[in-house]
Amino acid sequence: MSVVVLLSGRGSNLRALVEAGIPVSGVISNVAGAGGLAIAAARGIPAQTIAHRDFASREAFDAALAAAIDGLAPKLVALAGFMRILTPGFAQRYAGRLVNIHPSLLPSFTGLDTHARAIAAGVKLHGCTVHFVTAELDHGPIIAQAAVPVRGDDTPDTLAARVLREEHALYPRALRWFLDGRLVLENGQVRVKGGDAQAFFAA
Ligand code: GRF
Repeated sequence: MSVVVLLSGRGSNLRALVEAGIPVSGVISNVAGAGGLAIAAARGIPAQTIAHRDFASREAFDAALAAAIDGLAPKLVALAGFMRILTPGFAQRYAGRLVNIHPSLLPSFTGLDTHARAIAAGVKLHGCTVHFVTAELDHGPIIAQAAVPVRGDDTPDTLAARVLREEHALYPRALRWFLDGRLVLENGQVRVKGGDAQAFFAA
């Protein structure tokens, strides 16, 4: 019933998952010294670094990553600020049990710098998305989304902070659904058994 979290940075989503009671049994970072490794260590969660720089190809890195994940035998693999593009083979290997949180309302603003791009585009709603990972970057079936307003005086940092608060609520909720066997994937669409809302709106 456990979850392995892959990350590259500060680890605030990892912390939110753990504090919400999601059973995280291992953390893997592709960056040595990532803040998320210290968060894991402080909670006694086994954490390791597999540095992509040590591998000659994406395929070799992903193979090492998969071997480490499989050693932990998780039910679910959760990307939480994992800043590496995974190979199609990796996505396929974990199809249906690999999820990500992305800081935009997908399919808008895939990729990086989502908050600055949302402000530049003049959108009035922004937010975050939890989705299954497929071979196409930031395009897998959407599990849940949370929207926040974009204010006239927002900077990328103020908007990021507003979105991050929602990430910390949305991700544990979505992973709990998965672990409880409540997510149904049909024709590329995700629904929750029991009909829980999959859309959230923050003021
Ligand atoms: C979050 O905004 C997440 O949506 C994105 O990367 C950021 C990671 O933040 N994929 P943290 O490391 O969880 O604090």
